[in-house]
Amino acid sequence: MSTAPTDTEAWRALDAHFETLRGLTLRALFRDDPGRAARMTFEVAGLRADLSKHLATEETVRLLVALAQERDVTGGFDAMFRGDTLNTTEGRAVLHVALRNRAATPVIVGGRDVMPDVGACLAKMRRLVDAVRSGAHVGHTGRPITDVVNLGIGGSDLGPAMVCEALAPYASPSLRAHFVSNVDGAHLARTLAPLDPATTLFVVASKTFTTVETLTNAASARRWLLEGLGDPAAVGRHFAAVSTNHDAVRAFGIDLANCFEMWDWVGGRYSLWSAIGLPIALYVGMDRFEELLEGAHAMDLHARSAPLAQNLPVLSALLGVWYANFFGWESYAVIPYDQSLARLPAWLQQGDMESNGKRTRADGDVVEGYSTGPIVWGEPGTNAQHSFFQLLHQGTRRVPVDFLAPVRSHHPLPDHHDQLLANLLAQAEALMVGKTEAEARAELIASGASEATVARLAPHKVFEGNRPSTTILFDLLDPRTLGALLAFYEHRIFVQGRIWGVNSFDQWGVELGKQLASAVLRELRTEAVGAHDASTAAAIAHVRARRGA
Ligand code: F6P
Repeated sequence: MSTAPTDTEAWRALDAHFETLRGLTLRALFRDDPGRAARMTFEVAGLRADLSKHLATEETVRLLVALAQERDVTGGFDAMFRGDTLNTTEGRAVLHVALRNRAATPVIVGGRDVMPDVGACLAKMRRLVDAVRSGAHVGHTGRPITDVVNLGIGGSDLGPAMVCEALAPYASPSLRAHFVSNVDGAHLARTLAPLDPATTLFVVASKTFTTVETLTNAASARRWLLEGLGDPAAVGRHFAAVSTNHDAVRAFGIDLANCFEMWDWVGGRYSLWSAIGLPIALYVGMDRFEELLEGAHAMDLHARSAPLAQNLPVLSALLGVWYANFFGWESYAVIPYDQSLARLPAWLQQGDMESNGKRTRADGDVVEGYSTGPIVWGEPGTNAQHSFFQLLHQGTRRVPVDFLAPVRSHHPLPDHHDQLLANLLAQAEALMVGKTEAEARAELIASGASEATVARLAPHKVFEGNRPSTTILFDLLDPRTLGALLAFYEHRIFVQGRIWGVNSFDQWGVELGKQLASAVLRELRTEAVGAHDASTAAAIAHVRARRGA
């Protein structure tokens, strides 16, 4: 979608509408409309998403949907599912949805149906997964594999790591999964310290197989393996790879029989559904992995076919646009009340910020007069309540929140889950209703405080309220539900990118730092002197001098 969204009629109408809403309160919206909660709660693919605690009237929603129409969000979904070249700067289709196309209906890229390749890759994954989990695939010394170590970074790490943590209740007790991403040697060294090379399987996950961090970790992992087992032939039974770059995989010494296919039409941050999900499948089994795909597919069907005004990812995305562009709020928090979703915010940070953190539109013009992707952040509740919730409740900044929680826990210890859910529901309510000065004064008086104490403390106990949130509840965090939840966020990102007119599927912004790092690396290792600003040059000289010392 080219052109600026600010040029649309709907945007102008939203601008005018925003002015009419000054003084709007969520308390009043609920008081005046008994049907609001029911009308704005959506049940999709196992998720129950309550959008009623948002600063939006029926007219707001109508205008936001009109914006989605003017930006042809439906046409965008059609183009994506059809395999059009939506990633125009890299000349690629965007087809993570094909990876979970459980109906296997043909998806044509470059005149060829990609679904047989997707099916073949899943079948190849199943063969290795079943062999490792059954003990048929043994290590070089004949012992079964007990530990899988994924070596990858960004999209080749965050998704699988997050999903493995989330689905730990479904894991095989005899197989552990580890994730090493950082080139900081501590990450690899600490992960490998308790492991036995004879029972460890490495998965080198890199779409490009050129990512320096991953290749550095992979080379060190291979050294560790060979030091432990003493035979170069061991690599064959202890290394698998996932990549589009088969030449580089072969050059690294990994047998192509153990190399799993990737395609350039899968973006790294959208790739957990591909063989990049191999550690997930090894950890929870191939059937569970396919359930994850099925959950995502259910959300795909909804996103593509539900009318815009009833479409959960579309509405959630539009509310995000409403806050980012009309209220001018810069960030967005995702707070899972589920410890096993601890890595969800990190996965979403890459998904959202690498996709929509752009200042050049897809048509090549610079974004002017509106902001694009927000800052995404979060931590699990209730921990978050004891760290940054002060700012959410009483800070001068406004941060819309997504609260997430399962109704039932995999770990039903007495009391725990009730407390967890009570806290989530109370936080969403507190953010919305707040506490007026009169209420704060009344409370203090009721507690027996003196007139002077009431006057002194009441202003500090005021909660402005009117702070919006979405609450997403689901029955249990199982593979299907998780798949639907993750696909919901992917589509939300897509819709926002479409509204803002950016290409959500390239990531040129990560390149400059990489280029400069390779120049600096050369200078740290040799006598070479590059052209740097005085600050960088002095830091390089300092490191060289300290290392020399
Ligand atoms: O540097 C950013 C990035 O390109 C991400 O988009 C990607 O997920 C990550 O690096 C890893 O890339 P690869 O899978 O090619 O190693």
